[in-house]
Amino acid sequence: MSRFLNSKFNLDPYDTSEELESMNGYDRLNTNELPFQPSADLIKSVGISAETLNFYSDPDCLKLREKLAALMNVKKSEIVFGNGSDEILNFLFTAFCGRGAAFPDITYSFYKILAKFHGVDFLQIPLDENFRINPDDYKNLGGRTIFIVNPNAPTGLILSLDDIKKIINQNPESLIIIDEAYVDFAEENSSVKDLIHKYKNLAVVRTFSKSRCLAGARLGWCMACEEIAKDINDIKNTVAPYNINAMTQAAGLAVLEDEERTQKNINLIKTVRDDTKNKLREIGFEVLDSSANFLFVRHEKINGSEIFEALKRRKIMIRHFNKPEKIADFNRITIGTAEQMQNMLEVLREVVKQ
Ligand SMILES: Cc1ncc(COP(=O)(O)O)c(C=O)c1O
Repeated sequence: MSRFLNSKFNLDPYDTSEELESMNGYDRLNTNELPFQPSADLIKSVGISAETLNFYSDPDCLKLREKLAALMNVKKSEIVFGNGSDEILNFLFTAFCGRGAAFPDITYSFYKILAKFHGVDFLQIPLDENFRINPDDYKNLGGRTIFIVNPNAPTGLILSLDDIKKIINQNPESLIIIDEAYVDFAEENSSVKDLIHKYKNLAVVRTFSKSRCLAGARLGWCMACEEIAKDINDIKNTVAPYNINAMTQAAGLAVLEDEERTQKNINLIKTVRDDTKNKLREIGFEVLDSSANFLFVRHEKINGSEIFEALKRRKIMIRHFNKPEKIADFNRITIGTAEQMQNMLEVLREVVKQ
């Protein structure tokens, strides 16, 4: 820390060291990306957009907005775009956590990082013994903004629409944020996006990084009633009016123009996920029932760090969590191609035999 850093900060940034390491020829099964490269049409669109990089990008992402609004069945004014959904989350912590925040104790680690950064008083609500969110635990929260990832990360477990409605109904003074980064891998109609028309205290966060295979382009969005969307957009225009660069806008539009490809990718991942889950169970792994593009697993006899190290030695990177202790024996495995999964299973069969 330099002597110039504002003393109000006690920074606890996201640790990217493992991700950087995994870029050196490893199978990347640690960051929940999809293994499918962009289409030739998308690459062409991005190239064309680069021809006008001398101009600022469209601050309203109009073409993208029109296309996405039609696909999501919401109004254009109910959408806000972010440089990845992480930026949206930052806007939400900036804008709406004056009375504090609440989120599960085991969930996306960025929430705690952002809460600390913004000096937000946060409450971490324990998952139950089956790693599930119990809606009854989300009561009397004094107007704190509630963040729920659905399906949750890293567990992959999904909360029903009725349970989410229950949380919304029992917290009329709170804004409820549902982070649906992985919802496309769940059963159809698992999203609560349509409820933004019914509930004026709901915001839904989504990303192009997972099911739409654009993690490197950095594009996410939020859907909420016009009033909330305007607040977020005002924050965006205050700190980063041109937050979505022209090439990313072109990439996003190209992905939306090829929904068939997206659906095909999603179905493939779901099939490989369910097959991998069964095969892991056959060799003694406990595997939670995932509705996402990853599996949360532990072995009955071998501890989590041993499994992580064994795979790493074979150039396969998965995600190991040392903290909190409750999940120290678990690993999170991103679903890759069928071949990658087969390769990983072969290594695990050897590890289990020893
Ligand atoms: C639950 C959840 N929300 C948001 C994000 C951020 O995604 P991005 O910033 O790539 O849109 C992630 C990334 O892994 C995530 O797991």
